[in-house]
Amino acid sequence: MWSNLSKLNKDELNLAELRTNVLAKQLPEHIALIMDGNGRWAQKRDLPRTAGHEKGVERLKETVKIVSELGINHLTVFAFSTENWKRPEEEVNFLMSLFNRTFESDARELHREEVKIRVLGRREGLPTDIRKKIREIWEMTKDNQGLNLNIALNYGGRAEIIDAVKELAVKVKSGVIEPQEITEANFAQELYTQQLPDPELLIRPSGELRISNFLLWQLAYAEFYFTSTLWPDFCEKDLLLAIADYQARERRFGGLKD
Ligand code: FPP
Repeated sequence: MWSNLSKLNKDELNLAELRTNVLAKQLPEHIALIMDGNGRWAQKRDLPRTAGHEKGVERLKETVKIVSELGINHLTVFAFSTENWKRPEEEVNFLMSLFNRTFESDARELHREEVKIRVLGRREGLPTDIRKKIREIWEMTKDNQGLNLNIALNYGGRAEIIDAVKELAVKVKSGVIEPQEITEANFAQELYTQQLPDPELLIRPSGELRISNFLLWQLAYAEFYFTSTLWPDFCEKDLLLAIADYQARERRFGGLKD
């Protein structure tokens, strides 16, 4: 039954039953999420795109709560890519002020819920006030024992790999490590995600079927789940359906079935 779950009409499924069934199986330890479709959500309602981003933050807060309650350890969300600077200045400015406001007001609430908040991405290029808040929320939450929330901000997967290569090149040049000693494991330590486990599940709402330069290294063996639901509409049931779909998959990591 569960292998066909995502094909069922969402309304036919009882939320509590779905949650129970998802909890009865092995959960992913780390979920990666591309929060896409804010603009289209707003346009469909004749609202400015910014209203979609506001709603996107609300959806993120709800999702963090649900993911925490499920007992999943890591959630990494794509908030702003190194390519998003190409958007109109007005929208970029709005997003920066939205991040600023959210880091100011909501981070404290998440801290009370024991959420550990880390921002992944290049610091250069971000406004100084946001950089300051990123340091502050990390300092405030770094000893928390709850969900690890990683926010990819000014993040690009290729940029991350280049940054890691530069770090290793410096270590090679200074003799800390020999070129032949470079392994997948010590390379991964130079990525922004460092010791985080790789995500087992990537979810992308909004109907786009691509990963858009998100976690290129870390998603090597992730299961991908795409849905046409726009991010601001992505509710608990959508999340549970994505996890149930993941739980029905057979993961072989290049090997053969047992
Ligand atoms: C993509 O939708 C969304 C973004 C570029 C912004 C995502 C940001 C949030 C949801 C806010 C998160 C806030 C914090 C503090 C982490 P889009 O605008 O590309 O939608 P479209 O494809 O429909 O135009």
